[in-house]
Amino acid sequence: MLREVAATRYVTPLREGGSLPGIVEADDLGTYVMKFTGAGQGRKTLVAEVVAGELARRLGLRVPELVGAQLDPVIGLAEPDQEVQELLKASGGLNLGMDFLPGSIGFDPLAYEVDPVEAGRIVWFDALINNVDRSWRNPNLLVWHRDLWLIDHGATMIWHHNWPGAAAWAERPYDASDHVLADFGPDLDAAAAELAPLVTEELLTEVTALVPEEWLADEPGFAGPGELRRAYVAALLARAGVGERITIGPRTPERPSRVPGWLATELPKRSAS
Ligand SMILES: Nc1ncnc2c1ncn2[C@@H]1O[C@H](COP(=O)(O)OP(=O)(O)OP(=O)(O)O)[C@@H](O)[C@H]1O
Ligand SMILES: [Mg+2]
Repeated sequence: MLREVAATRYVTPLREGGSLPGIVEADDLGTYVMKFTGAGQGRKTLVAEVVAGELARRLGLRVPELVGAQLDPVIGLAEPDQEVQELLKASGGLNLGMDFLPGSIGFDPLAYEVDPVEAGRIVWFDALINNVDRSWRNPNLLVWHRDLWLIDHGATMIWHHNWPGAAAWAERPYDASDHVLADFGPDLDAAAAELAPLVTEELLTEVTALVPEEWLADEPGFAGPGELRRAYVAALLARAGVGERITIGPRTPERPSRVPGWLATELPKRSAS
């Protein structure tokens, strides 16, 4: 199991997140980014955060600590925003907390240099978990104390939304052309040689055991959470040879801005969130 805390204060919503994550304080005096079971994307997002995040950590990549975070919706009563109120009301019980990295900033590929070995490890890992959510449009990488930290794995392992088709995903190619680290010459051979042997049944069993039982209950087609955990293990194990299937080509061009040209020149350029 993950370490567990109880939220004691809802601080503020994180507006840049699509799922309306919130910053909370907890009874261990920590501050966490909380992702809610009641969010539209559903609890599978939280399962993906735990499986992918804890796997990344064990492969030596930096991920802020993940905790189970108990929520009593009463802590949001003073929150004026109706949307937040409803989200909290729908999310009583166990949610996901990620250690908040104070003073971190979003990774900007124009402002930082990333070494090819580290870029290779991250791209390889994203291929393993079918992550299309670390692009130059939406890097989901933070810079904190001059190091790169991986966040936001909620949209990974897309195959767990359709288990009957999951096995076919093992063989799928991974197009990293739009990956935010594509331009840093990621050393994919070094990454595959280092990381693929670490992705063992034993490691994956350890990682999937961390997912709270209640987020795995009642999945159609599965006898129970144990069987579902084994399905995640099998799917990820089958993809450990992904190194041969990663391609990096030219980036897809930026879509034309909907802001009229005469106005765009007046506006400061906004980076993708
Ligand atoms: N641990 C953290 N420490 C500091 N800031 C964070 C942390 N986690 C997330 N953030 C900030 O909150 C934003 C939203 O978080 P995240 O990307 O995980 O949410 P999301 O709802 O899945 O977002 P989206 O789907 O829109 O990318 C991040 O882009 C980042 O700016
Ligand atoms: Mg994000």
